[in-house]
Amino acid sequence: MTRLRDPADRRSRQRSAQPARSALQAETTSIHEALHDAPPFAAIAEQRLRSSDYTRLLSALFAYHSSLQFIVAAGCRRLELQALLNACELRRHRLAVDLATLNAQLPPVGKSVAAVDDAWAVGCLYTLVGSSLGGKVIFRQLDYLLPTPAGRTFFAGTAGDGERWREFCNRLEAFGTEQQSLTPLIEGAHFAFEHFASCLERHR
Ligand code: HEM
Repeated sequence: MTRLRDPADRRSRQRSAQPARSALQAETTSIHEALHDAPPFAAIAEQRLRSSDYTRLLSALFAYHSSLQFIVAAGCRRLELQALLNACELRRHRLAVDLATLNAQLPPVGKSVAAVDDAWAVGCLYTLVGSSLGGKVIFRQLDYLLPTPAGRTFFAGTAGDGERWREFCNRLEAFGTEQQSLTPLIEGAHFAFEHFASCLERHR
């Protein structure tokens, strides 16, 4: 299974240059790594997830991204990242397209999550934007299930994802230096990971 690089190694490289990201990364490493072993992701990595379960995974992702729309908008507004907001909307749209490609219906969208405050929303945004990095790994792992990119355009991402991630990280650091404490950011990032785990659970 694909693994992240050693977190201690990443932390030591980023601690001085990126204190906010470094803190978010360190505080969410264990829940992030645990998600790699969540049933659908473990099954994809082992090339044994079936189509019906893949569709359920896309439904969980659609419900997740839909429920966080307001948070994403608040975080992008606070960091003045309109292009990132557009990219997040495109990701959600691609989930709908992928579901349609696989002849699946859109799942009902539950209640939207409300932002606690801007810092919390930016913390959530960290988790959401970061997840596009892992998406590219999953895209490749899905070669066994889908003959073409159709049905997995969400995971494919776009050529601009790396650039947007770097820009997000830069704004995150600038924002972090204005904050008295990184705790609300960390709590937001944590919430977004936990919320993802519960969306997965609800769509099993
Ligand atoms: C099995 C599924 C997953 C895989 C294989 C995976 C893989 C990866 C990889 C390869 C990176 C880039 C690491 C680096 O370059 O240092 C990454 C980063 C990240 N992923 Fe995942 N990921 C998965 C699931 C998720 C999920 C479900 C979320 C959130 C809901 C998530 C959030 C993040 C975040 C926030 C980062 C950025 C961490 C940082 O600050 O460097 N990932 N992931």
